[in-house]
Amino acid sequence: MTPAAELLREEILARGPISFARFMEVALYHPQHGYYRRSARHAPDPFGMHGDFYTAEQVQPVFGLLIAAETRALLRQLAPCEQFTVVELGAGRGEMAPFFQPWRYVPVDAGRGQMPDDFTGVVFANEFFDALPVHVVVRQGGGFAQSLVRCNGEEFEWTGGPPVEEAVGEHLTRYGAPREDGDRIEVNLDALSYLDRIHRSMRSGYLLAIDYGYTAREMVRFPAGTLMGYRRHQALDDVLTDPGLRDITAHVNFTALETHALSLGWEKVRFESMASLLLRAGEPDQFAEALGQSLLGAGTDSKEAVRRRLQLKTLLYGMGENFRALLLRVPAKK
Ligand SMILES: C[S@@+](CC[C@H](N)C(=O)[O-])C[C@H]1O[C@@H](n2cnc3c(N)ncnc32)[C@H](O)[C@@H]1O
Repeated sequence: MTPAAELLREEILARGPISFARFMEVALYHPQHGYYRRSARHAPDPFGMHGDFYTAEQVQPVFGLLIAAETRALLRQLAPCEQFTVVELGAGRGEMAPFFQPWRYVPVDAGRGQMPDDFTGVVFANEFFDALPVHVVVRQGGGFAQSLVRCNGEEFEWTGGPPVEEAVGEHLTRYGAPREDGDRIEVNLDALSYLDRIHRSMRSGYLLAIDYGYTAREMVRFPAGTLMGYRRHQALDDVLTDPGLRDITAHVNFTALETHALSLGWEKVRFESMASLLLRAGEPDQFAEALGQSLLGAGTDSKEAVRRRLQLKTLLYGMGENFRALLLRVPAKK
């Protein structure tokens, strides 16, 4: 058993079946044994070719240049400020740091960094919301029950739980729920708490969130839910095996993010594919400029230029249509 599995097993034997949110919290974020927290000495880097998955942030410098161009354009829309801040939620390996240099850059990751208390600027989050612990819910006889995790020897398995707690029930009512008996869905309460946290701290600015996800209307496409494990570039349906050794994600409910943001008084600016965000890259001339810097700057025929052209292709065609980008504006507080 993995060390995280041993901890989870002990907890289940002592207290009974646990929520999937608790399982995911330990599997990914336990300070010593969680997938994202294991010390680099004892565990391979989860990112990149030799790890378990790629994110757009590993496609550098093209991704960084285009997101920096978009950030610059957004900051131009704000009233002048002594120091603009860019907070990155789930900064991972910090690949965006060089591109956010023109501003005060605050990387925040599990156990590292903190959102400042009072700032004006942009919060950027790439594949952050889909990594937060989620509750798993199943539709049953017209109601909604929690799906819990229990032990069977050294293995973990799903088991039916009691009716969902109030906050989860409210989430289902407001932002969409499965329609057929037996259908499953994940509920991400932490995602909404993060919007509240930004709301308390940001004087004015934007949140740009890029993630896998769906809208409430698209939910019917996922009757079995969207939980997925990743190990060595393989997507796995089984998320209960080897906790601590594989990534676990759940698609983001963008309707929930957007509706909650509007209830806080924020405004929706745009919801689009990542490809369309990158093609726009700030302002009409910015894409050409960023490309000019990245391609021509490296010499049109050089190996580097070819590499960067391939990166752009990967971002636009490989990943660009699968990922969505939600841009929300936090108006200045009165
Ligand atoms: C899939 S990775 C994405 C990393 C990076 N943004 C990228 O695109 O390469 C998700 C990141 O979110 C971080 N994360 C998860 N929960 C967090 C939390 N509550 N606060 C800060 N970071 C968190 C994880 O540690 C991990 O580095």
